[in-house]
This record gives sequence, C-alpha cells and structure tokens, in this order.
Amino acid sequence: MKLPDLNAPIGVFDSGIGGLSVLRALRAALPLERFVYFADSAHAPYGEKGDAFVLERSIAISQQLMRDHAVKALVMACNTATAAAIARLRELHPNLIIIGIEPALKPAAANSMNKQVAVLATRGTLGSEKFKALLNTQSQLAHFTCQPCDGLAEAIENHLDDLNAPVIHELIKRNLQLVGLNNKFPSIDTLVLGCTHYPLVKPVFQSYLPASVTIIDNGAGVAKRLISRLKDEALLQNDERSKGGVQFSSSAAKPQNWTAVLNA
Ligand code: DGL
Repeated sequence: MKLPDLNAPIGVFDSGIGGLSVLRALRAALPLERFVYFADSAHAPYGEKGDAFVLERSIAISQQLMRDHAVKALVMACNTATAAAIARLRELHPNLIIIGIEPALKPAAANSMNKQVAVLATRGTLGSEKFKALLNTQSQLAHFTCQPCDGLAEAIENHLDDLNAPVIHELIKRNLQLVGLNNKFPSIDTLVLGCTHYPLVKPVFQSYLPASVTIIDNGAGVAKRLISRLKDEALLQNDERSKGGVQFSSSAAKPQNWTAVLNA
C-alpha cells in the first residue's frame, strides 16, 4: 500500500452541503492544506434513512476519495455518518487518519451556567449507540434536552440559494418551541447544533433566541483534532508556498453558490 503523502489533499464529506460549515473551520485553521469536498446530495438527507444505508454510502465515498485523490486524511463532516460508520471505516482503512464529528456536548456542558442544554440533531444521530454513549459520559455534568429535527437538513439542502426560506424558519421555530427555547426567558442557556447543516442557518436560529442563549457547534473541535493527528503522523503541510484550496464535487448537480456558502 502507498504511504500517505504530505502534499496529498484532505478528503471531507457530508450527506450534502452541510459539511461546508465544518470545512469553514478547517480552512481557517489549515490555510496551507488542499481539501477535496464531496457532497452526497443525490442521497441526502441521511438523517432519516437508517444506519445500513448511511454505512454503505460512507464506505463508497471513502473508497472514491482514496482512489481518485489519494487523500492523506478523511474528515466525516456529518454527525449522522460518523455515528453510523466511523468504527467500520477505521477497520477498513487502518492506515488512514479518519476524523468524525459528534454533537458538542462536552463544550456545551462547560459553557452552560445553569447546566441546561438543548441538542438539535438528526433522528439518526440522536438514536445512535454512539450518541447514547456520549450522553452517558456527560449526563452528570448537565441536563440535555434532545430534539430530532426531521426535515430541517433537507430543507437547508434544497434552499442553498435562499437560506432564509420560510420552510427553514418554520422548522427552526417549531423545534425551538419543542425544547422550550422560543421565548424571552428560556430555562436552557446553551444550544448545541448537532447536525452540520444547521450552522449554515445560524442567523435564523439567532433570530428566535434571546442573546442569553449560546449556540455551539463542533467545527473548531474537528479542526483541532485533525491538526493534532496530522502532526502525529508528520503529515501537516507547513510549506508557506502552498496555496491550499478546495475542490468541490457532488453526486448531484454542483450548486452554483457553494463558494459563497463556504466563505459566508
Ligand atoms: N449534515 C449531516 C449531519 O451532520 C446529515 C444531515 C442529513 O443528511 O440528514 O448529521
């Protein structure tokens, strides 16, 4: 097997364009690296499709990124895919750095003053064994109210050119109401966005929340773990002449404005 090359790109994938919220953090932390992003938009959303389907797609995408781009690391910029497939992908590719993402419960518990946290994510993520195990490790530190937001990732996926679409507002308002957050004096003071699509519409969440509520996602945490693993394996690009960059591909039509969303 060919050893990973320091100059090779880093593969990043999601069920669709949600992972661009993670790629923002990766680009900010690693400006010298090249990234190849794959949006599986032809098969999105993953959140309500079940583990077997998500596992099959994750395996196919990882193989494609390794075959076509010889990636030196793989970032699963999707909470749902991480929960369903990261263990199997690590078995299949033992020599590849594989970083996943999971809802940021630990930072949220640390941030919360009153130890009341809400977690919004897909049904797949919240129902997974991986999430239940994570919740167990944090449940002494805070109380977590978890809410699956059926349809929200799909609505964001379908309205990339209008992230203020009424359907997005409606779904966000309804789910905030369900966790008791859509009022002036909520008892919850910290909101975890546990699906990578949701930070793309953070301003919509903010428009329904008082300033006292902190919104947390895990993009920066993923970047930190990736840097540490690349350093460990001597695969961190530190040649200042390297310009970095992003190559975008999708299993559906490429959205016109993906760069605008990435750089927003
Ligand atoms: N963006 C993904 C996540 O972080 C998946 C959303 C979906 O496809 O349902 O969970």
